[in-house]
Amino acid sequence: VNLKPFNTFGLPATARSLVRIRETADVRRVLDDPELGRAPKFVLGGGSNLVLTQDIAAVVLKIEIPGLRLVEERANAWVIEAGAGVPWHEVVRWSVEQGYPGLENLALIPGTAGAAPVQNIGAYGLEAQDRLESVEVVDLVTGRVAHLPASVCRFGYRDSVFKQTGFGGLAGKSVITRVRFALPKPWKPVLGYLELERKMSETGITAPTAQQIFDWICAIRRAKLPDPAVIGNAGSFFKNPVVTPEQCRDIIGRDPAVVHYLMPDGQIKLAAGWMIDACGWKGKAVGGAAVYERQALVLVNRGEARGAEVLTLARAIQESVYGRFGIRLEPEPVLL
Ligand code: EPU
Repeated sequence: VNLKPFNTFGLPATARSLVRIRETADVRRVLDDPELGRAPKFVLGGGSNLVLTQDIAAVVLKIEIPGLRLVEERANAWVIEAGAGVPWHEVVRWSVEQGYPGLENLALIPGTAGAAPVQNIGAYGLEAQDRLESVEVVDLVTGRVAHLPASVCRFGYRDSVFKQTGFGGLAGKSVITRVRFALPKPWKPVLGYLELERKMSETGITAPTAQQIFDWICAIRRAKLPDPAVIGNAGSFFKNPVVTPEQCRDIIGRDPAVVHYLMPDGQIKLAAGWMIDACGWKGKAVGGAAVYERQALVLVNRGEARGAEVLTLARAIQESVYGRFGIRLEPEPVLL
């Protein structure tokens, strides 16, 4: 199977076979299949956080489970449920439109509902973990269905138990089939992000509605992030490094302009995009792989890029940022 149409970076690779999962029970059917049952499995959602650098010797489970509904209205929250295959932006658009606000800051993030908890997607002051209630998962060996509350998902910055491979980690062991979010009542906007404040002062709107914030976020993202349907990419290619105040002082010593944010736990998050930009990478290319002109944190496919070219470019960026700032950037998408 050709995987190029199934990854937003548009990288060429093949898989042994691909099975579309349209309901939870389909996972069990694959496991019971005499041919596919014992083969290694690879779970694929929207393919928007994936860098394919080689062919996959596994059965790809393409998650296409539909469904969006309000499951419960509590005194202090609306609880909604999405099938893992629903495009994430659809979940946000639908919930805001239906009057269950609370996900608007996460508008226009590529990928599926089922992938949202895996990397704990986040933007503009909100992360999936802030709203996640529980996930339905199917064990890829036993086929058993379980419902995991958010408290056992070990969420971190772009991290969760579903990505972890160490003790208790579920990477490669289970597949997410449904996701529930609890949207707090009464709704409170998440503002405070510089670009949102700018929109507020530009428009003079001091008390925006959820729909207004949704529209602003869409406009902000469209202005600086490439649409994967037009230019292949996987969003931010590197995580923003988190350092101690001492490390930060050292880095500020190298360049006082370095963009950084104090986190609630006293650590400091550095803007990787700023550092890459400062090293002069915007618009630079290796073959078909390039650094996006408007956001240095995003690598793009200018046409016929191959996974190896993306990796070569990424390594060169890591080396130059290390040379100038003494910090090792970590890739954000899954590299295969
Ligand atoms: N900057 C530059 N040059 C650049 C890029 C950024 O100077 O080429 C500066 C910006 O001016 C800004 C700072 O760096 O002062 C941070 O940039 P930005 O606000 O665009 O956000 P980011 O840190 O680059 C993160 C997330 C995004 C998320 C935005 C908004 C990560 C790895 N990325 O990007 O998430 O949309 O914040 O909250 O945490 C993703 O994960 O795929 C993603 C797009």
